[in-house]
Amino acid sequence: MRLKDKVAIITGAGAGMGRVTAVLFSEEGARTVVVDIDEKAGQETVDMIRAKGQEALFISTDIADVSQVSSMVRKVTEEYGRLDILVNNAGVYARGDVVSIDEKLWDRIMNVNLRGAFLCCKYSISEMIRNGGGTIVNVASECGIGAWKNQVVYNVSKAGLIFLTKSIAVDFASKNVRANCVCPGTTETPLAAAYFAKQPDPEKARRDFEEIRPANRLGRPEETAYGILYLASDESPYATGAVLSIDGGYTAQ
Ligand SMILES: NC(=O)c1ccc[n+]([C@@H]2O[C@H](COP(=O)([O-])OP(=O)(O)OC[C@H]3O[C@@H](n4cnc5c(N)ncnc54)[C@H](O)[C@@H]3O)[C@@H](O)[C@H]2O)c1
Repeated sequence: MRLKDKVAIITGAGAGMGRVTAVLFSEEGARTVVVDIDEKAGQETVDMIRAKGQEALFISTDIADVSQVSSMVRKVTEEYGRLDILVNNAGVYARGDVVSIDEKLWDRIMNVNLRGAFLCCKYSISEMIRNGGGTIVNVASECGIGAWKNQVVYNVSKAGLIFLTKSIAVDFASKNVRANCVCPGTTETPLAAAYFAKQPDPEKARRDFEEIRPANRLGRPEETAYGILYLASDESPYATGAVLSIDGGYTAQ
């Protein structure tokens, strides 16, 4: 029960790493708030958690929309009276280099991956401070550390998320609000599956992604979820501004 009675918001918890993290947090005693733009998927995560007798609440939210984010945070504090943990996990992906990418697509990816996380932090931090502090874990990427080819906006959004993390860490340490991030490598989730499915030879594309890293395999969602759990929990009180790579050794090369 590493998160006993903590109130935790997890964005993008309708699928992939967010869902696995929500289930893990609930098993560890958190009152988990599942946030997703996809109502069916978000409700499914809540149903999975409740089926095990644990507590969860779904709040349908597009994190790119400021009024939806502020109303989501308000609902959480009305329901539970406090907010301890925010996991900014929701993210979207797009291909393209600086010349080929459409401006609208650039804005959409930045609005979710970076501005969405900024909005969730902006409205959550004052609630955390009101209650004596809290912790934020941002889900960035190995692509925020080194640039991957032909995905400029994704790379930039994740690099920005790493610096959003560091900026919050230095601005709010004195208020007992910590901010850290995890940088997963390619992980077995619907997002990765959708990417492979679009390639001319999906099996080869997958092998290519495995072979570029020392571990010679893709990550599993729970491997990232345990990193998020550590940074979100009271086991890491001195960790703030940290960037935790969980990528099978890719960025160590
Ligand atoms: N899967 C990977 O290989 C990988 C690697 C590194 C980093 N990441 C990052 O990890 C995070 C989770 O990735 P995943 O692979 O589990 O993704 P996923 O696509 O499987 O799930 C993402 C979830 O976010 C939700 N979402 C999307 N836009 C939203 C919005 N505007 N508001 C609220 N919810 C929204 C989706 O509905 C979905 O349920 C993302 O930030 C992603 O960029 C993924």
